[in-house]
Amino acid sequence: MIVVEDLYKSFGRKQVLEGVNLRVPKGETTAIIGGSGSGKSVLIKHIIGLLFPDSGRVLVDGEDLCALGAADLVRVRRRFGMVFQGAALFDSMPVWQNVGFALLQHTGMPPDEVMEVARERLEWVGLSADVLPRMPAELSGGMRKRVGFARAIAMDPEILLYDEPTTGLDPVMSDVINRLVRSLQERLGVTSVLITHDMVSAYHVADHIAMLYQGRIVATGTPDEIRSSQNQLVRQFITGDSEGGAYQVR
Ligand SMILES: Nc1ncnc2c1ncn2[C@@H]1O[C@H](COP(=O)(O)OP(=O)(O)OP(=O)(O)O)[C@@H](O)[C@H]1O
Ligand SMILES: [Mg+2]
Repeated sequence: MIVVEDLYKSFGRKQVLEGVNLRVPKGETTAIIGGSGSGKSVLIKHIIGLLFPDSGRVLVDGEDLCALGAADLVRVRRRFGMVFQGAALFDSMPVWQNVGFALLQHTGMPPDEVMEVARERLEWVGLSADVLPRMPAELSGGMRKRVGFARAIAMDPEILLYDEPTTGLDPVMSDVINRLVRSLQERLGVTSVLITHDMVSAYHVADHIAMLYQGRIVATGTPDEIRSSQNQLVRQFITGDSEGGAYQVR
């Protein structure tokens, strides 16, 4: 569904992506793991066409994002739903407007129908209609995350991107979110890409795991393959060992 080919990206003199190659199979969940600053968020922004590479390309269902004009890019982006790092809700809008934001902006759907879509999507993520009129500030961190999920699925995306959905949540709420990622996967049959440095989450939700390190994918495999990998970089990352020799923090 998504093919990333030899992607390079630098900001000024800082080289962030240094030849990323990745294939994301349709209808399955791929987790991208890697340390802070390894370029995970930069990579996911290339996949959705918010950033463009210095060289290399990203193909979404065969279409090269760099070769598309503005209108076609909007069309391809609409196939995506994105759950941003830290939920990123609009604090001045009630929950239903947050969930229905894209529908209100882009479709001309009347507000009562948007409200109905929001109610349904909130139900899918385990929230009742009580939260529709509430403001984000009145919600707990876990509820805000779930509202972010409901917003990401409001437009029936084919591809769901999650940037660190469990960061900052307690272990039980993280498990709730991991189960939600899996249940949305089963319900919607979407292609999902999950960025995380939470290995519990990666093992739980992913069909495939790819590790990003210093701007390149250094290992890929199923959760079992990654768990038993002999690659020193992978071993050090998954065990959280800062003195194993291979992995350099920069
Ligand atoms: N727009 C930008 N301009 C300049 N530098 C940037 C920009 N976006 C990212 N970077 C740099 O690229 C590097 C990778 O950033 P990125 O946000 O992708 O890391 P990450 O792997 O998502 O980290 P984290 O796990 O902390 O979220 C960082 O050094 C960051 O400072
Ligand atoms: Mg990030």
